Amino acid sequence: MTYTEKDKQYKRYTITSALPYANGPVHIGHLAGVYVPADVYARYLRAQGEQVLFIGGSDEHGVPITIKARKEGVSPQDIVDRYHKIIKESFAELGISFDIYSRTSSAEHHKTAAAFFEKLYKEGKFVEKTSMQYYDEEAHQFLADRYITGTCPHCGNEHAYGDQCEACGTSLNATDLINPRSALSGNPPVMKETKHWYLPLDKDEEWLRQWILESHKNDWKVNVYGQCKSWIDAGLQPRAVTRDLDWGVKVPLPEAEGKVLYVWFDAPIGYISFTKELKGDDWEKWWKDNDTKLVHFIGKDNIVFHCIIFPSMLKAEGSYILPQNVPANEFLNLEGDKISTSRNWAVWLHEYLKEFPGKQDVLRYTLCSNAPETKDNDFTWKDFQLKNNSELVAILGNFVNRTLVLTHKFYGGKVPARKALTPAEEEVIRELATFPERVGRSIELYRFREALGEMMNLARLGNKYLTDTEPWKLVKTDPERTATVMNLALQICANLAVLCAPFLPFTADKMHRIMNLPAMGWQHAGSADLLMEGHTIDQPELLFEQIDDAAIEAQVNKLQESKRQNELNAWQPAAVKPTVSFDDFGKVDIRVGTVLECSKVPKADKLLQFKIDDGMGGRTIVSGIAKYYTEPEKLVGRQVCFIANFAPRKLKGVESQGMILSAEDKDGRLVLVSPSDLVTSGVNVG
Ligand code: MF3
Ligand code: ZN
Repeated sequence: MTYTEKDKQYKRYTITSALPYANGPVHIGHLAGVYVPADVYARYLRAQGEQVLFIGGSDEHGVPITIKARKEGVSPQDIVDRYHKIIKESFAELGISFDIYSRTSSAEHHKTAAAFFEKLYKEGKFVEKTSMQYYDEEAHQFLADRYITGTCPHCGNEHAYGDQCEACGTSLNATDLINPRSALSGNPPVMKETKHWYLPLDKDEEWLRQWILESHKNDWKVNVYGQCKSWIDAGLQPRAVTRDLDWGVKVPLPEAEGKVLYVWFDAPIGYISFTKELKGDDWEKWWKDNDTKLVHFIGKDNIVFHCIIFPSMLKAEGSYILPQNVPANEFLNLEGDKISTSRNWAVWLHEYLKEFPGKQDVLRYTLCSNAPETKDNDFTWKDFQLKNNSELVAILGNFVNRTLVLTHKFYGGKVPARKALTPAEEEVIRELATFPERVGRSIELYRFREALGEMMNLARLGNKYLTDTEPWKLVKTDPERTATVMNLALQICANLAVLCAPFLPFTADKMHRIMNLPAMGWQHAGSADLLMEGHTIDQPELLFEQIDDAAIEAQVNKLQESKRQNELNAWQPAAVKPTVSFDDFGKVDIRVGTVLECSKVPKADKLLQFKIDDGMGGRTIVSGIAKYYTEPEKLVGRQVCFIANFAPRKLKGVESQGMILSAEDKDGRLVLVSPSDLVTSGVNVG
């Protein structure tokens, strides 16, 4: 049984994609890991004629949002309003074909999530526990783990958070931190008693083991399976599903004043809330019927939540189906470095869309062909350029363009008749017929890179066919054969229009428009008779254009600039040197002098040569500041401080009789130190 047949058991597909936190825009890491593959999957299934519900939305709760709001002095709602809009619009522009893109601050979501909690509460599915938790006495608040910083017990990083150390990646408990501090007041927090509700995951171990480790041993990805196995083998612990916080879904119990649902409890319920928002009374079958296939698209940091915790919630509720698959991806790096929002080391989708207008499919293609499916992968701008220029332009674009241009040149845009076929052409037709299954099967197995590669193989087949038959020469000697060749090449183009659509929807639309091709399903592809003889093709347009070095360089420079900014932001004053005595200080003879002459030292880029009035007949001093004073003659008349008893030394053949003082700014720039009022040349500084 092929996977295609197996999936025919399902009547409908509920496809979810992780809800991005609305505390920043979406970047290429999100796209490659989650949204591009999910969209390819959804588009493919729709082309197969399946009923599909593709859900997305913003995750608008959680502590990082409240922290960001505090930092900016605005409300959390302001933050999520800002980013929800950016994220939603940029997804739409990239062609991510959500059936709904909603948000967890919506009223429907609050109602649904609270009701979900209430049902579990009433049925006794939670355990209540009081525990001691960090509390900030000055701010009168319990402290979320993120609000506590301290030293990581594993690696010694002094800026670890109460939930995780970002230096070594270890997840932590706030009580693990050495020297904890509240991020609100900076004070050491105190311990105070608080009550919370826990999902007793320890009781779910047996069925989870059976469900994941046995029944999904062969169809879940090894990275997903492996993470689940290590969680389960380590022994599952009860998980608190409430928090002391004022931003989130209020815990619907009178005794829970000032408490909200834990963000990881409410957010996945968002998938359900959004289904209700879209489908109204018709929502339940998408979540409760056994002939619905539920698939969660996520990144690897979400695995435990989607494979263990959310399924345990659904199981505890009792009426829901469980995911059939959770094809989580690994991470995408950028130019050899981990993508980071706080370090602005990212390619932001909304910026890409502005800087590369009309090139949505180039990004979709690059990210899909480079998706971190089995291991972390690296995005580089050079590779982006290469994929565009030597794959999209040179393979797909070139084949389609050659075919359409020749059709216009030879036949005025009318599809010519196909006559007798050579054995090689019969083979081309046989091979053509295998592509929908090859591409589709890879998609159904969540191997999107492989699927994309197969689609491109059809364009390669087309190019090879044109190269082998050379219709541009053949036309002079054998018009009938030429017509046959062009007919077949056009059929391959029409097939590409259908098969590239899940990956490259904008290109597919363009091809459909140019070829006057009606919308058609996957089942029509594979045929060598998609275009009838005499069918009219519009004027060709290039599908892709070259991306030049300048565009790539601009992007690389932009990244360099954020690296530079990060270094500047990380700047701290140097540690103070060991104490010197008054007497020792007195040995250094610092004086004020007035610049009489100043010029560049020949053959030395860095050096300026000063003639200084030192009140004692003048002296020459050489200083390495040429880069920062490009018009040295303008320094004449300026007063500077210099060390008058500095041992003389030769620099590029010039004897320097002292040292001029300058301050080094945090970007490395040197600035002369001068008295703020005119003084007599030669006086002491001290
Ligand atoms: N906001 C989470 C993240 O970016 C993902 C939430 S997925 C959901 O990691 F299922 F909880 F919605
Ligand atoms: Zn650490």
